[in-house]
Amino acid sequence: MNTKETFHIEGLAGQKKLQGTIEIKGAKNASLKAIAAAILFDKEVTLENVPDTNDIETISEILRKLGAKVTRNGDKIKIDPTTINSTDIDPELAKGMRASVVLTGPLLARFGRASFPAPGGCVIGARPIDLFIDGYKKMGATITERDNLYIIEAKNGLKPFEFFSPIQSVGVTETLMMAAVLSKGKTLLKNCAMEPEISNVAEWLNECGAKISGVGTTIINIEGTNSKLLSPAGEPNSNYVTIPDRIEAGSFLLLGALCAKELTINNCRPDHMEIVTNLLINSGVSLEISKTSIKISNNTKPNSSFKPFNIRTHEYPGFPTDLQSPLVTFLSQVTGESAVFETIYEGRFKYTEDLLKMGANITIMNPREILIKGPSQFSALPENEELSAHDIRAGFAVVLAALLGTGKFIVNNVHLIDRGYESLENRLQSLGANVTRKSK
Ligand code: EPU
Repeated sequence: MNTKETFHIEGLAGQKKLQGTIEIKGAKNASLKAIAAAILFDKEVTLENVPDTNDIETISEILRKLGAKVTRNGDKIKIDPTTINSTDIDPELAKGMRASVVLTGPLLARFGRASFPAPGGCVIGARPIDLFIDGYKKMGATITERDNLYIIEAKNGLKPFEFFSPIQSVGVTETLMMAAVLSKGKTLLKNCAMEPEISNVAEWLNECGAKISGVGTTIINIEGTNSKLLSPAGEPNSNYVTIPDRIEAGSFLLLGALCAKELTINNCRPDHMEIVTNLLINSGVSLEISKTSIKISNNTKPNSSFKPFNIRTHEYPGFPTDLQSPLVTFLSQVTGESAVFETIYEGRFKYTEDLLKMGANITIMNPREILIKGPSQFSALPENEELSAHDIRAGFAVVLAALLGTGKFIVNNVHLIDRGYESLENRLQSLGANVTRKSK
């Protein structure tokens, strides 16, 4: 990973010039968890449609450091967990990616032990791991903190338990679910997150011997296998196939609405994105939606003709926090005032500083709420001033703003965009955008 790479972007000066087709990749937030779940298996597993992003490479590397064999061939990843000989999650790699905490679930389930670094600060809020710890304690594990590491141990195996999560957390739902899969007896998880990525992984685990019911609702039941490892039932049906990335599809949809005359988004799941497509249609964007694609055509009306609206980010099926920042770029182009309330994270508006520098009219009401007045024209920054990706999604929001602008823009910290979007510059180029990657 090169942390010095930048995007050089030539803005379209508000013209809707882009055109073409985007094939949506697999959902990184589902593939990441399937990679962790591979620890629960008795032999090599194959994961398909895995996006080639930095986060996937990081978690694969963590698994290799645990002793597993992980190999990638195109969009397939093979993982052999039978050679795992360590339960210490690499602290340096884990610090760069909070999702690595999910590895503690399957490690504890299979080996009765996991160590994990105490989370440091994070650009999108404090993001504590208290609920994972609460869950593990309820399962009978002991937790000790030493040298900034949590050491979680369940020498006699994890016991079945009942857990009410005070918030609907994606990571807590997935991790405790995976921790319970091999236990002896019945586990009940209440107030679970309902994101489709969770169901995607759970359905695969069920095909391979797990007994999980209720995924996709707030109540999940797990009947443990009593230490019997999961087993891929037989090629190719037992391969895990990642669902399309709804956040990537939503990001390109917003790009298409603002910058494209015609854009077809293929290989997506519109049924996972209804909140986004409904908001855009009501705002005036014309979409043709089929089972696996969304098409924007004849998009010739000026963006200022779109209507403003208010949103609160919400757990699935509400408006995803991961589309909050690209949506703010969209709202900066429509006529009128919109309010955006961020309910999931308390620190996810940092990127607005960059939009303000370009000419957006955004008022920060408090760390959770902003008002956007549009339409704003984005102009090039004074010499020596550059834009920055603060996190994966904020990075996309800023790239989108640069594409809307007049002049040339430099976006720093492209490695953060690479955590979640595969080869973004190539895919934007294929639509006619002038975006190039350079190393400082
Ligand atoms: N939380 C706690 N205590 C915990 C765990 C979570 O307070 O022990 C809080 C978090 O701080 C946050 C809230 O719960 O305020 C919800 O976070 P959640 O646990 O649902 O998020 P996550 O599992 O850490 C996943 C995605 C994020 C996405 C969120 C919300 C992965 C790898 N990450 O994170 O994706 O924003 O769910 O949908 O699945 C991204 O892809 O750019 C990204 C940040």
